[in-house]
Amino acid sequence: MKINIAVLPGDGIGPEIVEQALNVTKAVCEKFGHELTYKTALVGAAAIDACGDPYPEETHQLCMASDAVLFGAVGSPKYDNDPKAKVRPEQGLLAMRKKLGLYANIRPVSVFPSLISRSPLKNKLVRHADFLCIRELTGGIYFGRPQGRSEDGNSAVDTCTYNREEIERILKLGFEFAAKRRKKLTVVDKANVLETSRLWRQIAQEMAPQYPFIETEYMFVDNAAMRIIQWPTSFDVIVTENMFGDILTDEASVITGSLGMLPSASIGLHTSVFEPIHGSYPQAAGKNIANPFATVLSAAMMFEQAFGLTEEAKLIREAVTVAMDAGYVTEDITTRLFQKARSTAGVGKWLVKYIRK
Ligand SMILES: NC(=O)c1ccc[n+]([C@@H]2O[C@H](COP(=O)([O-])OP(=O)(O)OC[C@H]3O[C@@H](n4cnc5c(N)ncnc54)[C@H](O)[C@@H]3O)[C@@H](O)[C@H]2O)c1
Repeated sequence: MKINIAVLPGDGIGPEIVEQALNVTKAVCEKFGHELTYKTALVGAAAIDACGDPYPEETHQLCMASDAVLFGAVGSPKYDNDPKAKVRPEQGLLAMRKKLGLYANIRPVSVFPSLISRSPLKNKLVRHADFLCIRELTGGIYFGRPQGRSEDGNSAVDTCTYNREEIERILKLGFEFAAKRRKKLTVVDKANVLETSRLWRQIAQEMAPQYPFIETEYMFVDNAAMRIIQWPTSFDVIVTENMFGDILTDEASVITGSLGMLPSASIGLHTSVFEPIHGSYPQAAGKNIANPFATVLSAAMMFEQAFGLTEEAKLIREAVTVAMDAGYVTEDITTRLFQKARSTAGVGKWLVKYIRK
């Protein structure tokens, strides 16, 4: 099969972790006889520094012409610490999502057995946790207008809007993923307070009868935030709006023991993007210590979802599991006393060797 991807490493640890995921992708393609072609492009602070635009048109055209995008992370303290900066790296991420029509972000949350002891929750609570969060990505309060400050700078406004089409397409994905899994869908909203949430709930209730084999439950976001911690195994598929999903998925990531473990896929109208859920972790940039697993597991999602290659995805997940069982991990997930932490590149090399074996 021909596999043509765009590679956007971004900022901070982005280039280091994406390099490992790309090496793993190359090894898998060699092993299964796929023909891989890829091109790299700038995004985020790296792109602002080079041309003043966090998502340059050239990068967008490359993404549009590719079958999938492997993405690192964007963000830099240079911009984080300057609230008055006119252009910000994160605008590149939002522009990419909007221009590629990436309306759904899919984040699997599961616990690798060798990491259970790292979870801040009791082992018995997280042992069998395995759920999928589907977050709406191009609507809601992050994109609604008006947004801004009053002239005197002392009041501010953000607007949350959703329309039927936006809600229906993401709920449809939710029902479809639930149908392929344990057939339970939790629709998370704040319908007791917000009008947009009431529209979400109404549309979900209209659609649910089309999926009679799926148990559909409705939950307020504050309750969902508690339940994720108290009873994570009670979820199968969660579907929710942009800001609730942003917050709940970061909360859910804690269950797995490290933010460096969680992959994601953003899918929509054009090319899909596969990226770790964490940011650019600037403190670790250039130190060769960041955990590459979230990005490597994002490459596994890419094989599966962009190319329908499940065996290839399975092999990558197996390699990550065996690396963890063997203790071949970066410092954020060392679990045993006196266990040696490996470098980002060292872990990547180990995975490539395993895949080639
Ligand atoms: N999708 C994205 O590109 C994205 C997402 C979130 C934040 N950001 C940006 O990233 C920058 C840093 O933000 P932040 O510090 O809030 O979030 P972050 O995810 O970069 O890091 C938070 C903490 O998580 C841990 N961590 C994250 N990734 C790790 C990895 N691969 N290996 C080991 N540990 C890891 C570290 O302890 C780190 O201090 C900011 O500029 C922010 O805007 C970008």
